[in-house]
Amino acid sequence: MIVNNPNRRGFLKTTGLVAATLPFTQVKLAWAGAHPDINIAYISDSHIQQIKGAKFVRNWDRGLIRAVAETNLLDPQPDFVVFGGDLAQLGKKSELDHGAEMMSKLRAPVKYVMGEHDFYLDMGRYWEKLFGPQWYSWDHKGVHFVVLNSILTYDEWVNKWPSDVERMNQMAGLDNPNGSPFMVGEAQRKWLEKDLSKVSKDTPVVVFSHSPLQKIFKNWNFWTEDAEQLQKMLGRFSNVNVIYGHVHQIQYNRIGNINFHSVMATAWPWPYPESYAQAESHLPVLTVPMNRADPFHERDATGWQLIDVHTGRPTLKYNLYNNENRIVGPNDKGVPEDRTYAKRTTPPQKHY
Ligand SMILES: [Fe+2]
Ligand SMILES: [Fe+2]
Repeated sequence: MIVNNPNRRGFLKTTGLVAATLPFTQVKLAWAGAHPDINIAYISDSHIQQIKGAKFVRNWDRGLIRAVAETNLLDPQPDFVVFGGDLAQLGKKSELDHGAEMMSKLRAPVKYVMGEHDFYLDMGRYWEKLFGPQWYSWDHKGVHFVVLNSILTYDEWVNKWPSDVERMNQMAGLDNPNGSPFMVGEAQRKWLEKDLSKVSKDTPVVVFSHSPLQKIFKNWNFWTEDAEQLQKMLGRFSNVNVIYGHVHQIQYNRIGNINFHSVMATAWPWPYPESYAQAESHLPVLTVPMNRADPFHERDATGWQLIDVHTGRPTLKYNLYNNENRIVGPNDKGVPEDRTYAKRTTPPQKHY
């Protein structure tokens, strides 16, 4: 059960800092039914970028620092925090170290997802040293959670570059004909099959990936090559949800009985590419309209989110730094929906 508690709002304000902008003044009371409360804070795509020596891109630093500070103000604290990938911009040790240091300030435990910007310099070796395995699963309060590394690609592509830096730079670009599509890959799919074989059909499953496990727009690698195979494996569960970063924009969709939700970047927003409309053969049928924050408004469409999984179908509460906050959650039929903003035609940004 969730209630608004004005006293709690007062408490958060007295802590100073950014409390006045916090969207989450709910207090959790003991859950009376079969479903316990599960709250996850989700921070993603910080793209910490070294300029030179100890100098890093300030805006990207500030986005992550703010998300960490606001997450630390949540009361009660989330069960865990997910970092959705692309902690670094070009996979450098200095960038990963700097990002890890900022993340270390979080009070709640953190689960990490690999992004392509973390990976393609040294194929994830240093990231693994800092954060652990690239794919794993665990059970928490009756929900099966899975983290996948969805940004792997073909070996031939990985091995064709004259240097690690060249490989990283090629993968970091959009609209790059020299890039290569992402995939989960055979080894990991086998692991997933085995992992899921132990889970009953009625157990809610939540998968965290970096790229969407659906084919949205290939030129920008909003794409996972083996998406259909993954959807088939996941589709046998009655309540399955995929939450992903990478796209730096609000997306939600349903394919079969799989609900898809994206999370925001703390660094910068990507616009909704005009070419979405041109990519007829690649765009999945969006069964629900997306609400659209305006990526051309500074800091709009950047932020982080609190995810409430108490029903097994996540509700994403988007904390958008320079926009009105949004809530995207399941409607009566379990389909993701944003009742407040989906039908709006003009963006509701705050103007400073
Ligand atoms: Fe990203
Ligand atoms: Fe990414």
